Amino acid sequence: MNKSIPVLAIDGPSGSGKGTLAARIAAELGWHLLDSGALYRIVAAMAVRRGLDVEQEQTMCELAQSLDIAFPDGRVRVDDLDLTDEIRTEDIGVMASRVAALPAVRAAILELQRNFAQAPGLVADGRDMGTVVFPHAGLKIFLDASAEARAERRYNQLKNKGLSVSLRDLLEQIEERDARDRERATAPLKAASDALLIDSTQMTIEEVCTTVMQAATQRLL
Ligand code: DC
Repeated sequence: MNKSIPVLAIDGPSGSGKGTLAARIAAELGWHLLDSGALYRIVAAMAVRRGLDVEQEQTMCELAQSLDIAFPDGRVRVDDLDLTDEIRTEDIGVMASRVAALPAVRAAILELQRNFAQAPGLVADGRDMGTVVFPHAGLKIFLDASAEARAERRYNQLKNKGLSVSLRDLLEQIEERDARDRERATAPLKAASDALLIDSTQMTIEEVCTTVMQAATQRLL
């Protein structure tokens, strides 16, 4: 791992807004972006395509190692397939959380994630960016929000896409996924001891971006 490349690590539960935050900060700084959740989603989606059992650790590990993954112009390309939309469904999200609980899969994609640290810098978003993948990151953010606020944001996103969903079901799914991500033995979702904690429940995305850009200017630039 090249520790001279500056890294901004953003961790937090699903729906906290970290994906949007990471993309905006990366664009503002002109840095590379790693959406690490997409990697677990890709493994889950490819397992579904190939009819593999996502609970089989060795099989999932071999699958993760065999994939040729690239993110050209914000799209998701795996081998010769475009999986940009396919990996974003709720079902794949739930399966990705099961795949992400397998230590062998996490180990298999560790180097792949670290290779995203290229000049002039990297904004990495996930659950263990500051704790496991980039423990030397110059700035670590832990972005949280209440489960209710996160369910409501997701509900509005899906509604805007014309999809009909139940807010109560979404809240249940979010709480279930949180529990699995926080309680797993390997690389559980938790704030690094040196992370800047931000609770976005009552904040707009603009307010969160301003806070993070101020911290980035002080600590990274
Ligand atoms: O952020 P997301 O919803 O795209 O992530 C999908 C799943 O992958 C989520 O349940 C948690 C898991 N994940 C993880 O365990 N570690 C990461 N660094 C990123 C995501």
